Amino acid sequence: MDNQGRRLEEGKKLTAEVEKTLEEGRLMLAYTGKKVRLHHRGEAELMREAIWNSDEETNALDPIVGTTGNHQTFAIKTLGSKHIGTCAVYNFDARDGQVGIRIGNKNYWDKGYGTDAMSILVNYCLTILGIARVWLKVLPTNARAIRCYEKSGFTKCGKVVYDGIEFVMMERRR
Ligand SMILES: CC(C)(COP(=O)(O)OP(=O)(O)OC[C@H]1O[C@@H](n2cnc3c(N)ncnc32)[C@H](O)[C@@H]1OP(=O)(O)O)[C@@H](O)C(=O)NCCC(=O)NCCS
Repeated sequence: MDNQGRRLEEGKKLTAEVEKTLEEGRLMLAYTGKKVRLHHRGEAELMREAIWNSDEETNALDPIVGTTGNHQTFAIKTLGSKHIGTCAVYNFDARDGQVGIRIGNKNYWDKGYGTDAMSILVNYCLTILGIARVWLKVLPTNARAIRCYEKSGFTKCGKVVYDGIEFVMMERRR
């Protein structure tokens, strides 16, 4: 390879590195908010979630009903790296996708962590995944969750029944 060829190769390598750094930066920004950051889950997070998922008060507010299809699930961590909950987008395509959230550590309820996590998740769905509409279901009695979703830009759009339980549907469009 002559000098010009080598310079061309080096230029291409540099461009690829810059693009990779930009992409990583874009993803890092997409996953980080004012109070929390979304992470992929490891073994420790899965074990903590299993403990949270056996809490009666939380399960009464957020009955787990079966979900199908594709999904991406994230651990919610404070900016100080404490694992406090889980959120996910599932059954999604370009047209729409369902989202859900659970702040498993009750000490972190009512402090704005849920709103921040949901805002990051929705932004990720609408801009990175390119989903046109995200929606969720919530018990009509779960005023805290409804308020959290309203603060994250969701509006009520109907009702849906799962396993005999009636939920309010809320949506946010791109
Ligand atoms: C629902 C959940 C994700 C919300 O996250 P969070 O961090 O607690 O919520 P935020 O602090 O961001 O927002 C809660 C808002 O509800 C308000 N709120 C709390 N209890 C309320 C009530 N009984 N009535 C009305 N508003 C209430 C809070 O004051 C706050 O609003 P504000 O900031 O305007 O004061 C979290 O509490 C959670 O996971 N709960 C248990 C499981 C659950 O309910 N999951 C959702 C299933 S759909």
